[in-house]
Amino acid sequence: MPHVTHLECSLCAQQFEAARVHNLCSCGGTLFVRYDLNRVKGTWSRDSVRSGRTDLWRYLPVLPPRRPESIVSLGEGMTPLIRAHRLGSAMGAKSLWVKDEGLNPTASFKARGMTTAITMARELGIRKIAIPSAGNAASAAAAYAAAAGIEAHIFMPKDVPQANYIECQTLGAKVTLVDGLISDCGRIVAERKDQEGWFDMSTLKEPYRVEGKKTMGYEVAEQFDWELPDAIFYPTGGGVGMIGMWKAFEELEQLGWISSKRPKMIAVQAAGCQPIVRAFEQSAARSEFWQNASTVAAGLRVPKPLGDVLILNILRESGGTAIAISDQEILDAGRELASLEGIFAAPEGAACVTAARTLIANGFLKPADRIVLYNTGSGLKYLDAYSAATS
Ligand SMILES: Cc1ncc(COP(=O)(O)O)c(C=O)c1O
Ligand SMILES: [Zn+2]
Repeated sequence: MPHVTHLECSLCAQQFEAARVHNLCSCGGTLFVRYDLNRVKGTWSRDSVRSGRTDLWRYLPVLPPRRPESIVSLGEGMTPLIRAHRLGSAMGAKSLWVKDEGLNPTASFKARGMTTAITMARELGIRKIAIPSAGNAASAAAAYAAAAGIEAHIFMPKDVPQANYIECQTLGAKVTLVDGLISDCGRIVAERKDQEGWFDMSTLKEPYRVEGKKTMGYEVAEQFDWELPDAIFYPTGGGVGMIGMWKAFEELEQLGWISSKRPKMIAVQAAGCQPIVRAFEQSAARSEFWQNASTVAAGLRVPKPLGDVLILNILRESGGTAIAISDQEILDAGRELASLEGIFAAPEGAACVTAARTLIANGFLKPADRIVLYNTGSGLKYLDAYSAATS
């Protein structure tokens, strides 16, 4: 039985009917899926999760499809949570862990958001989707759309990592390279979607990518035996993963599976594009467009995240913070993580290493804290960046 009751605006709480196609609320807020968690509680337990599927669909009672046969899956989620002993000693952290999202289909955590979004697109009868992307979301959208037989139109900056470009083309998507940033790609999708009959799958403009991304929160809870860590470092571009995990923690508490204890949520950005860091430091409610955004961490090149209000609230409520890392530090950290732990990380994930070291050194975190770094993608997608830095 599906447990979805309705959709609800994350800003103004207006309610919407679930089984319909929706983008944003009229106030501009992202729509969240709401479930009858009391009913879920009666039929689902922490023990039954353990014997469920070995991908993220093990959490089906808190995921949106009405019919299990709608599911479009490539085996995403349930990524390893790896104890990083050697890196931990190098930075003075006694309990350091890496959640390695590079092992997902299309080699990034974007697979999580796309398995749920494309599943719902199929269930709601959508035939064509369009997406602006910094790279990895495009690869995942192309893969899941291919598996579902849905037409995918992809708009990426022209200097997107080569791997994403080739991957999307090979997966059969219609790819357009844009002379600009993801914000310019988003504008093109918004301008053309009605005429072309595309459904807009932009970050946080549809309700279901958050639902897939939230499973990173369910998994970290399950993998730590239902006790959340003290701090989570998350490379924040659009911030969907952070927003999703926070939603997961609220749901888990309502289910009675975790306590009210929350990790400090730490947004990691690149020095060349740090709208959230700046807004956090200025105690602003929302971010300002970051001019001339530039970084090797392509996924962090989001000059004005749509979910900025939600992200900033999470950082403040959790007692977390926001921190920016330079490209040079990011690539050095990528080499350190790889050579000490055997994890070849995306630059976005590598940025978390420097961020954690900094916050331990300045006393924001304690050496004994249990710390999780999210490596959101594989370094293999970024050979151009790593080879430029090593040659
Ligand atoms: C590897 C990687 N990490 C992090 C991000 C940022 O993701 P989010 O939108 O959840 O902040 C992206 C987005 O493109 C990415 O590709
Ligand atoms: Zn609203």
